[in-house]
Parts: sequence; C-alpha cells; structure tokens
Amino acid sequence: MRGQRLTDGVAIRQRVDLPRSAMKVAFLRELQEGEKRVSAVPATVEKLVKAGIEVAVESEAGLASALPDAEYAKAGARIARFPEVLGDASAIVKVRPPLSRGSTHEVDSFPEGAILVSSALRSDETLREKLKRRRISAFSLDLLPRIARAQSMDVLSSMANIGGYKSVLLAANALGKFFPMLMTAAGTILPAKVLVLGAGVAGLQAIATARRLGALVAAFDVRPAVKEQVESLGARFVAAEAHEGAEDARGYAKEVTGDAAKREREAILKELAQSDVCITTALVPGKKAPILLTAAMVQAMGLGSVIVDLAAEQGGNCELTEPGKDVVRHGVTILGPLNLPSTMAPQASQLYSRNVLNFLLQVFDKETKKIAVDRNDEIVRSCLIAHDGEMLQTG
Ligand code: NAI
Repeated sequence: MRGQRLTDGVAIRQRVDLPRSAMKVAFLRELQEGEKRVSAVPATVEKLVKAGIEVAVESEAGLASALPDAEYAKAGARIARFPEVLGDASAIVKVRPPLSRGSTHEVDSFPEGAILVSSALRSDETLREKLKRRRISAFSLDLLPRIARAQSMDVLSSMANIGGYKSVLLAANALGKFFPMLMTAAGTILPAKVLVLGAGVAGLQAIATARRLGALVAAFDVRPAVKEQVESLGARFVAAEAHEGAEDARGYAKEVTGDAAKREREAILKELAQSDVCITTALVPGKKAPILLTAAMVQAMGLGSVIVDLAAEQGGNCELTEPGKDVVRHGVTILGPLNLPSTMAPQASQLYSRNVLNFLLQVFDKETKKIAVDRNDEIVRSCLIAHDGEMLQTG
C-alpha cells in the first residue's frame, strides 16, 4: 500500500491528505526575465487529464517554447489569465520560484493550503515567509535525491544535460578554430583539445558533445568512480593522487580543501596549458562552486583559448568568471552563461514537464483522486520545504 514503509520492523503509515476534493493543477507562465521554459507541454497535459486530473494553463505560458494556447486546449487544459487560472487549484506548478505581479506577489493569490511544485524555492527568505503564511506545501524539485527511483523526476539532471551540450557549442563558436581534425590539400588541421573539469551529468554530456565534434577530450574529476564513464565516451581521464576517497557515502564529491586543493590545481594546470577549451562543471552539493582555475592558471592558457564556466550561477569554478557575462582576460575568452536550458526552451520544457508529470503522479493518489504528501517517502522528504504552515528541514 502506498505510504507504508517498514522502520525497525514496525509498519508505519503516516500520510497527510490535503483537504481538497479532486486534484486540479494550474501551470503558470514564467515571470523571470529571460526564462522561456514552461512546466507543462501538451503531451504532459494529456497524460494528467487521462489520469483524472483537471488541468489549467495560464494563457501564453508556452509561447516562448513555441507552444500556443490552442495546443494546450486541444490536450484538455482550461486556458485562462492570472489569477483566474488558479481557480481552486490543489497544485500550482512553475519552473522558477513565484514572483511579484505588479503590487501583488503570486503566492498571495494561491488558494490557501495548495501545493506548489517548482525549483530553487529554499533560498528566498521572503518567499518562504509567504508560503508559510498561506500554508502552502512547497516542493523544490532541485532538492530531489539522485536515487534510482527519482531519476524520472530529476530536473537537475535533465537541465544539466542541456547545459553540458550547449556549453560545447558556445565554446566551439567562441574558439575560432576547428574542433575536428581536417586533412586538406592545404595541409592538416589538428583537432582542438578540450578539457572538462567535473564529470557529472553536465560534464559527461560536454565530453560526449565535444567528442562528436571531433575534439580530443580530457576530463578531470575528484571521484575516481567516473573514470570508466569518461573513457567509455572516448576521453582521457585525468585524476590526481590526492583525490582517492574523495566521495561521500551517497557517491557525491566531498569538498577539496587546503593542500589537496593546491595539488589538484597543479594537476589541472598541466592539462590546461595545452588545452584550447576548458569547460568547468565542478559542483559539491550544498557548497559554493570550488575554484579550480585561478587568474594565474588562466594566464597560462594560449591566446584565443576559451573557458566556459557552467558553475557561474554558483559563483563559478574560475576566479575570473563574471556570471552572466562574456569577458576576455589575459587573451582568454571566459563565458559565464546562466540558464542555458532556456536557450533550448522547446526541448528543455519537454524534459522539465516530463519530470514534473512523473513527480505529480507520484504524489497523486489514484483511489482518492487527492494529493497525498507522504512524509516518510525519501523523495517527498528531500524536496518538501514547507508544509501546512511549517518550514521544514530537507534531506
Ligand atoms: P553533478 O553533481 O552531476 O556533477 C558535478 C561534478 O563535479 C561531480 O562529478 C563531482 O565529482 C565533480 N567535482 C566536485 N568537486 C570537484 C573538484 N574539486 N574537482 C573536480 N571535480 C569536482 O552536477 P551537474 O548536474 O553536472 O551540474 C554541474 C554544474 O553545471 C552545476 O554547477 C550546475 O548548476 C551547472 N549547470 C549550469 C547550467 C547553466 O546554464 N549555466 C545548466 C545546467 C547545469
């Protein structure tokens, strides 16, 4: 039975049913500047409707993802403007956290006690206060655990795949050199050398994309476990001795500090000096991005080289990165892109909304046709940041 799990041999059932009759979901238009994604596409609307869920989509929510209102209506959604779109919604879904619309904050219009499904909800103190006041149960999908059962809902992985792919295209465009080897009557062009720092989801996609373009790729990570994956993509794995055992029990990287960090930078420098492109994706969950490239290291790169710092949003892996900007320092172009998924909005929306659908179906109880917030479930526990007027510790 759903909501039942064994703890120390004792079966416990602790499920909170929210006080609403049938599940109604409202998908809102994104307000953040430059955000083109949307949290539902017609295909996911159709699936929700088939599951017996009433769907409303805010007018023009999908336009920036090339999805007109008519397609959502055809899939079975009610189309309305804000705040009418909310009706008596039991769930409200967004890609980005709710914001103000003129003088009113979006949350102030949410039906009291509804659930909110979005991302990056934890860091905004004002928003948390508002959620608490309206007794909203808020799920921040960026906090989902990277466990097998949650893979189909993992928005960070879906979006990191896009980031990794797009970072290579940006680098290839900024480099002013071929990525592949060319043998021409006028001589041979050698392939570009690409160094990828951090071989997680974004890093592996960057490696694969750079390889497809014909570059010679080397990748560096503190977790020796990724060596096999890097090599299976046709790249060379670079690891420093100091990184043995740099993984925690859940398989995530631990923070590298002190002498170990110094040795890591020395190992990177050897590769960096010979690379045309460096793509940085290093991340330790819950920490500021580790600095892997210092100003002096950038100076050691050849003129015209390119760095794409995917960790720009978390401060950057390169000391000289300016988040959201393209700068040239010591003759090296350093790109600090933010929100690359939005630059591929139609497919980013397709993936994001599929993750959302899988999550909604996880909390939807088919028998009662209600939302069931099972706080014993690891998935729910990890990303539920507010519930019934209470702010929660996630994890
Ligand atoms: P991930 O957790 O899958 O991978 C991070 C990798 O960094 C792990 O393999 C980890 O072992 C490695 N790492 C940690 N510390 C390191 C160190 N000191 N040296 C070398 N490697 C180290 O993370 P994911 O999902 O691949 O995301 C990577 C970064 O890309 C994040 O900062 C994320 O926010 C960013 N990103 C940026 C986008 C943009 O538009 N700018 C889009 C998508 C993701």
